[in-house]
Amino acid sequence: MVRMRRLRVNEAMRSMVRENYLNKSDLVYPIFIIEGENIKNPVDSMPGIFQYSIDRIGEELDRIIEAGIGAVLVFGIPAHKDEMGSEAYNDEGVIQRAVRYIKEEVPDLLVIADVCLCEYTSHGHCGLIHGQEILNDETLELLGKMSVSLAKAGADIIAPSDMMDGRVEFIRNALDRNGFKNTAIMAYSAKFASGYYSPFRDAAHSAPSFGDRKTYQMDPANGKEAVRECEADIAEGADIIMVKPALAYLDVVKEVSERTDYPIAAYNVSGEYSMVKAASQNGWIDEKRVVMENLIAMKRAGAKIIITYHALDAAAWMQEE
Ligand code: PBG
Ligand code: ZN
Repeated sequence: MVRMRRLRVNEAMRSMVRENYLNKSDLVYPIFIIEGENIKNPVDSMPGIFQYSIDRIGEELDRIIEAGIGAVLVFGIPAHKDEMGSEAYNDEGVIQRAVRYIKEEVPDLLVIADVCLCEYTSHGHCGLIHGQEILNDETLELLGKMSVSLAKAGADIIAPSDMMDGRVEFIRNALDRNGFKNTAIMAYSAKFASGYYSPFRDAAHSAPSFGDRKTYQMDPANGKEAVRECEADIAEGADIIMVKPALAYLDVVKEVSERTDYPIAAYNVSGEYSMVKAASQNGWIDEKRVVMENLIAMKRAGAKIIITYHALDAAAWMQEE
């Protein structure tokens, strides 16, 4: 008989044969920064997550450093929105000021800046619109401007999440031309049109005012196409590729990890977070066990980097062990 249980007899044996580990350095913590003063707004659909004004991010940064987290993904919520998303590429916009503030306070914390127009446009779409149509090439220009403006503010990594075609190459060229050859690009490569983003859209005030995102984000039914998206972004110059959401798309993470040696990020999105939170608040599941199980599943599938709202909790639990 093959006795598989011999390798499970005690923790020392189990840890000796353990194949995957989660490290604090794998984790990226998303933060929402809202225009205004003295604001710390709870996001109702995301227990434990808040919108902070710049003058209040300090307390969040303290917790991040204390937990030993090395990277944040920043999202801005401007006071003013318009058709063109002007605040996205205003050097004095809320997100640019936030990036400058974070890099001044904690220079060693990696700042990953999300690049997309949906938080900044009055219509809530990720690109410019003409009637009901979301324009591709016209949007690239603005994404390039936003990327340069965030790199200028000090962002270490630019993370385009808009899903316009050709944006990685366009952004890479714009960064290079403006003297930011060393600013990396983490591309949201295989980003699916997902129902799991709803809590985020509350948090970031970014729900589209008409239609949906299905003409630019991917069809959840498609795995092969996800590989093509990743290959295209690599060819265009991405340094890190991302699969998003994570849990319902671990097959995509696995497939992509077998086909490329580029670092892969998995984005454990808002709806995935909120489901775990809701079930654990009801006493139906053990939050710590389920979160750690979900995160190790992403590593097992082949992700190196995990973007998660659980990052602070997970880091604290890792400390205990
Ligand atoms: C903006 C953006 C979204 C998310 C990250 N960047 C929302 C969307 O595309 O509608 C989702 C993150 C999450 O749900 O946690 N394009
Ligand atoms: Zn968007």
